[in-house]
This record gives sequence, structure tokens and C-alpha cells, in this order.
Amino acid sequence: MRGEEIAAGLERARERTLGLTCFDEPELLRQHSPLMSPLVWDLAHVGQQEDLWLLRQGDARREGVLPAEIDGLYDAFQHPRAERPSLPLLSPTQSRGFLAEVRGRVLDGLDRAEDLFPYAMVEQHEQQHDETMLATHQLRRGPALLGPGVVLPSGDATTGGLPDALLVPAGECLVGVDGATEPSSLDNERPAHVVDVPAFRIGRVPVTNAQWQAFVDDGGYAKPQWWSARGWWHVAEAGLERPLFWTRDGARLRFGIVENIPWDEPVQHVCYFEAQAFAAWAGARLPSEIEWEKACAWDPVAGRRRRWPWGDGPPTRDRANLGGDALRPAPVGAYPAGPSAYGVEQMVGDVWEWTSSEFRPWPGFTPMLYATYSAPFFGGDFRVLRGGSWATAGGAVRPSFRNWDLPIRRQIFAGVRLAWDP
Ligand code: AVJ
Ligand code: FE
Repeated sequence: MRGEEIAAGLERARERTLGLTCFDEPELLRQHSPLMSPLVWDLAHVGQQEDLWLLRQGDARREGVLPAEIDGLYDAFQHPRAERPSLPLLSPTQSRGFLAEVRGRVLDGLDRAEDLFPYAMVEQHEQQHDETMLATHQLRRGPALLGPGVVLPSGDATTGGLPDALLVPAGECLVGVDGATEPSSLDNERPAHVVDVPAFRIGRVPVTNAQWQAFVDDGGYAKPQWWSARGWWHVAEAGLERPLFWTRDGARLRFGIVENIPWDEPVQHVCYFEAQAFAAWAGARLPSEIEWEKACAWDPVAGRRRRWPWGDGPPTRDRANLGGDALRPAPVGAYPAGPSAYGVEQMVGDVWEWTSSEFRPWPGFTPMLYATYSAPFFGGDFRVLRGGSWATAGGAVRPSFRNWDLPIRRQIFAGVRLAWDP
């Protein structure tokens, strides 16, 4: 990680942030869902975090670019999302000015920086909020603001039956990474450690909309036998009948556009409980996050990890759907250049994949500078999601990257990959 690369990465994140917030004031001030912040909060929050981690070395008592009482409005722990619209936030214009001021000072100091990790951390934080802002845009009602998205490669039209179940034989592998090999990895991805994983099978591709429709048609949402006790309680209470953003008359809503459900696309906007129930119906289960990571990154012939499923080269358009420009997952089979050593496709990009694992530290975990990024969430009611989605930046995901959310959440770009005992 050299200075110019860092500056370019920060710049790419900023272009995205500004592109997702270049709308009139009412759009940015409105809270489109109680689950989300007004877009203008995310906008200034990425600058407040950049100021805190890069200009104040994480010491919130030091003087920042904003007065202390305004700075505190952008502390996610002090102000839960539901109350953010009623705070005396910076206006969109003030927010953009604040972001530019912070960025200018950060770039001025970049030459003198000894440790470049905090810059990589801040770039990823902004990219994470860009994905969050896309979830806000998807929840928004009203005419489309973002357009249809760029064209993606076509798939292999294997939409009918369940995906091929590829065997991952028993054996040791490395899970997690170290700073030496993955300098941008965040605290919860470290350290690398050896795990002996029993044999399992895993879906070649994620579960599609066609397969999900078969579950719906079979009365899947009305049959308790497929659901965990908590899941069944939640289905009843929340009245779940189909994925979020599918309409009652068989269409779907995507960023303000009503369209036919593309049957060969990975299903998205399902919660953990739905993922679990679908898997039970299909005679399968969810993978654990360790199984997922082995299937994604382990090369059993070379006896080492790959940096990406396909090898050590960076993500490209023909390997994975990342970065947010598509505004949708690619159909299954769209990336014949992207499979892992075990032949598993579309593990990175397209949709986050729910795993059966609760969010816990790896053995030997040490918090990073931003010590409240992961640690407060360990041992809570969170499930781990892997692989990133179409909305995730290539620099903000890796085979070791661990995302987490509550098991009822559906606004994230999350889908399902099946696993089986051998
Ligand atoms: C890693 C996506 C769970 O958005 O809640 C952003 C990332 N943390 N700002 C979240 C995060 C603080 C986090 N997730
Ligand atoms: Fe944040």
C-alpha cells in the first residue's frame, strides 16, 4: 500500500459517496425506513470517521474539523438510526464542504504517515456506507433516481433444479489472514489459524429466484416443519410470505423500477430465518463460515490460500460482480472465469451469503485502532454473512471478510448458498 494507491482508493470511495447523494435536499433529509439513516447522515458520518481516525488518531477529545457537539451527532453509538432524522444535522451543502475540508487535510498528511492501515480502514468504512446508502435507496418509495444499472454477463440458464453439490473433502486449511499477507484486512479477519474441516458439499452457485418461487409455491412460508422455532415465530409475527421487494402479483421492485422477477438471478432480500427454512425444504443446510471460507479460498493442490477464489489476481468484470454499478446480482453461471479451487462460483460479489455461524472472534483476536468496529458485536444475536454483494466495492471484501447482521434483517443484499453433509 503506497501513498498514491491510498489516495486513489479514497478518491474512488468519495466518487461513489457523492454519486449516491447528488439529489435534492428533501430526498437526502428524509428517512426512507426506520432501519436506515437519512442519506445526509451517512454523507457527513463518513467524513466524521475520516477526521476521527486519520486526523485525530481516534481520540475524540481532540479538536476536530467540526465543533464537538456537532461531531457527536455522527457517532453511531450515541445516536441510533431511528433518531437520526430529528438531529440538528449539517445540511447537504455543509456536509459536502466538511468532507472536502477533511479530505484536503488527510491528503496533506499522507506523505508523513508511517502506518497506512488506518487509511485502508477508512476507505473501507466509506465503501461500507456506500452499500448501506444503496440499501436506503432500495427502501425508498417514488420514481427511480439511480437508473437500471450497467449490463452484466449472461448466465448458463441452470435455473430449474437445485444447484450442483460440489464436494470439499475433509482436511486442514487456513482460516483468517494476517496483516503481513492481507494488509487491508480488518481486526475480525485475523489472525490466520489452522482448522481441520470435515468433508461437506456446497452449492456450485447461489440459490436462484426460480428455486425460491418453487419454495413459495410449495407453501414453504406456511409449513412450520421447515422453520426453526424462532424463525416460525418471526414469519408469523412479521407476516412474511415472499422475499422483501417481491410484489403480491409476481413482480419485483428494484430502485423504483417494477420489473419481472429474473428467474436465473440469485435470490436476495431474504433473512437468515428464511435462508435456514429454504435450506431445510431443499434437504440441505447453510454452510458454516469456516466451510464457506475453505470452499472460497483454500487450494488443496498447492496446500495454500488464494487471495481470491480464482487465484491471486484482482477482481475484474469477467470474474465477479462488485462495485455497485450493476444495481443487481448477475445470473448464476455468469462468471466461468471466477470459480474457486473446488469449482464453486460467484462466492465473491452478487449477494452476501448467510452462514450458520454466530459472530465471534477468531482465537487470538486483537482489536484494531477502531476498537468498537467488531468487538461490541461479538456474542450478540448476529449471524455472519460472507462474500460481499454486487453493491460491495472490490477493496472492501476478501475471502476472509466477515459481515454480520441480525437474523431478521432483509434490507441487505443477502441471499443463500446451500451446503450438505457429504
Ligand atoms: C460491517 C456492515 C455490519 O454497517 O453496521 C459501518 C459496518 N460499522 N460503520 C454496519 C460499519 C460502522 C457495519 N457492518
Ligand atoms: Fe459507520
